[in-house]
Amino acid sequence: MIYSLIRWSTVNVNGKGNNLFCVYGFFVIHFFCSKFVAFLLTTDTYDKLYMKKSIIVAIADNNVIGKDNDLIWHISEDLKRFKKLTEHHTVVMGRNTYFSLPFRPLKNRRNIVVSRTLVDVEGVEVVDSIDKAFNLVADEQEVFVMGGASIYEQVIDVADRIYLTVVKKTFEGDTYFPKIDESKWSCVEESEVIFDDNEKVEFYYQILDRVR
Ligand SMILES: NC(=O)c1ccc[n+]([C@@H]2O[C@H](COP(=O)([O-])OP(=O)(O)OC[C@H]3O[C@@H](n4cnc5c(N)ncnc54)[C@H](OP(=O)(O)O)[C@@H]3O)[C@@H](O)[C@H]2O)c1
Repeated sequence: MIYSLIRWSTVNVNGKGNNLFCVYGFFVIHFFCSKFVAFLLTTDTYDKLYMKKSIIVAIADNNVIGKDNDLIWHISEDLKRFKKLTEHHTVVMGRNTYFSLPFRPLKNRRNIVVSRTLVDVEGVEVVDSIDKAFNLVADEQEVFVMGGASIYEQVIDVADRIYLTVVKKTFEGDTYFPKIDESKWSCVEESEVIFDDNEKVEFYYQILDRVR
């Protein structure tokens, strides 16, 4: 298309026998094309055109995220934040995480469960691969991958963002979040440290975006 435009301008201006206009036409078109490409590459435009794959997770200091197919801590502020971020969006989770939810499916959210064994669960879309889950939401702006460990492991290399809650304590557990390679992620937002009176732990939030 760009080539045709250049040809069109060349032929038209050349038709009048003016090479200067031909060169001028080329630079004008080049200018607008480069502006258009720059526009496409801005983060905002990228975000609008492309479905963002966001991981949402709460990890302990030692990367533990769960034990006996359950969460280890119950920090109500964090659960509220989870709700606020994910409500009216799609959440993708593995079968174990789905069955660990006290109330399921999650209300006011499109629930997609990844499983090769589950069939027909009311209020839930079951798919047998993570790619199929992402294909179902390809026209959405942001999808939230909410675990568990096996799903995080498979998604961390293709995720665009991590909504991270760091609980400042080491816990014994049996499921872990993969190690975050700091060279691949940049912290774009960090909260102050908050104290949870119920669990008697400190925690904080971070938003990490993939370095591009
Ligand atoms: N701290 C947090 O933020 C957080 C968040 C979520 C979960 N968790 C914790 O994480 C633990 C659960 O994690 P988990 O690793 O045991 O289980 P999981 O990832 O929730 O689910 C594993 C199951 O998902 C299905 N699955 C995984 N990859 C698949 C693929 N590529 N294609 C098709 N199906 C696939 C399989 O189901 P089938 O066997 O049916 O095929 C697999 O057995 C729990 O303790 C939970 O509380 C913590």
